Amino acid sequence: MDRTFVAGLPKAELHLHIEGSLEPELAFELAARNGVDLPYADVAALRRAFSFRDLQSFLDVYYTCMTVLRTAEDFHDLAEAYLARARADGVVRAEVFFDPQEHTSRGIPLADVVTGLSRAGEESAETGGPHLALIACAVRHRGPEEAVEMVHSLEPHREQLTGFGMDSTEVGLPPRLFAAAFEAARGLGLRCVAHAGEEGPPEYVWEAIDVLGVERIDHGARAIEDAALVRRLAADGTPLTMCPVSNVRLRVVPELAAHPLPRLLDAGVRVTVNSDDPAYFGGYVADNYLALAEACGLSEADLAGLAQSSLDACFTGAGGPHHR
Ligand code: ADE
Ligand code: ZN
Repeated sequence: MDRTFVAGLPKAELHLHIEGSLEPELAFELAARNGVDLPYADVAALRRAFSFRDLQSFLDVYYTCMTVLRTAEDFHDLAEAYLARARADGVVRAEVFFDPQEHTSRGIPLADVVTGLSRAGEESAETGGPHLALIACAVRHRGPEEAVEMVHSLEPHREQLTGFGMDSTEVGLPPRLFAAAFEAARGLGLRCVAHAGEEGPPEYVWEAIDVLGVERIDHGARAIEDAALVRRLAADGTPLTMCPVSNVRLRVVPELAAHPLPRLLDAGVRVTVNSDDPAYFGGYVADNYLALAEACGLSEADLAGLAQSSLDACFTGAGGPHHR
């Protein structure tokens, strides 16, 4: 498969944690700028830590590295670097996650985070680069009550935000616990998504749809284990924002050739291809298309269909069936 072909397909990136686009070089640059000590000697030592057993072993490194982000300028520079890479990969719209609680808990004002990211988005759109939309995510490990508080803290920034989501440690923290946060987010008119079925069981995907009322499922890899769930996702047209390279690196699947995406596609589910935390997993969105095509024997027409699905699944139009 030809990279030029893949990069030439206009596409949306719908599952990207902006903090997960923090390349080691920029992490050390920001650490020096802000006088933050990283527990890694240098870029090479940090890269050596990018060998993950599971989601949690990744999250530990990810949360450590994001402590170098302190000012609006830092968040701007992070998003600017990501958007330049996304542009080269044919991304015309990026709907990007960020984790407000991991910044406000370190004393960083939410306004600085939102302002820095938004300014990079405006500059990108003005210069023909990808349009940026922001999705604020509650981190599950801080629990349901903090998630509700976080949603309330979004209100002054409502104009800069498109959606609300949920990420971080999945197993043991079922979606239903966070129903109140999603209700509050919908009250603000935010489009709702949730990570589900990455490490967690298919039941968590059912709960995300039926209890939280989300419009898209982030990952959903384990949906393949439940035929009734696959039928439901297909019937409702609920998009899955899948991340093949991430799933291999975090051992959600043993190898790319075993990734459920082609089977879900065959079953009529609206799947999309995304990069999750590309600085940590070694692949931006075009790399994900290419690796998947190679491992699973997808054609150019298949990839063009996946790119079109990503555009169709964007939060540009009116809300879907669960958007009130
Ligand atoms: N936060 C950043 N990347 C994540 C992932 N893959 N799953 C859950 N939370 C995350
Ligand atoms: Zn993710």
